[in-house]
Amino acid sequence: MIDGGALLKIPYGVYILSSFKDDKINAMIINSAMQVTAEPARIAVSVNKRSLTYEYILASGVFALMPLTEKIDFPFIGRFGFRSGRNFDKFAGVKYEKGVLGAPVVLENTTAVIEARADKNLDVGTHVIFAGEIKEARNICAAACLTYDYYRNVIKGKTPQGATHQ
Ligand SMILES: Cc1cc2nc3c(=O)[nH]c(=O)nc-3n(C[C@H](O)[C@H](O)[C@H](O)COP(=O)(O)O)c2cc1C
Repeated sequence: MIDGGALLKIPYGVYILSSFKDDKINAMIINSAMQVTAEPARIAVSVNKRSLTYEYILASGVFALMPLTEKIDFPFIGRFGFRSGRNFDKFAGVKYEKGVLGAPVVLENTTAVIEARADKNLDVGTHVIFAGEIKEARNICAAACLTYDYYRNVIKGKTPQGATHQ
């Protein structure tokens, strides 16, 4: 048996994951991210193959991961996590800049940015785990980082109809 409640006891953060393809940019919300090695410093993210961000990471081989701040509102998470960039410009009206590897760095509601090249990837069925060597990491602000538990218990409102969350 698999008790979903037991799985929820694995602690996570909540992040924006961004990438690009040619001159197009996109980003999504993820919770499945972690640092996997220290030397060299590498991070890994698990990304659904149906997402647009997945296509962009495959195309550019680059991603940027931004831990979110705890003081964030649900619509901001919904913008990146419950809609697809296929039919919506997620960056319209959002403050961002281009990162050193080319992926967009969101400057609102984010605490840091970690930029990586995805060079060791693993197909795990519905998702691909992209693992990449970190090329750049810097702080954006000193605010507390959002955890998945805090998102679920405090921030989350009613999940919109048609949400694409894995
Ligand atoms: C709190 C939260 C956590 C999520 N975690 C993941 C994740 O770890 N991996 C994933 O592929 N999608 C995750 N999603 C779903 C994507 O953010 C969502 O499918 C998004 O609409 C994809 O956007 P895109 O098609 O523009 O790339 C999460 C969504 C939310 C709200």
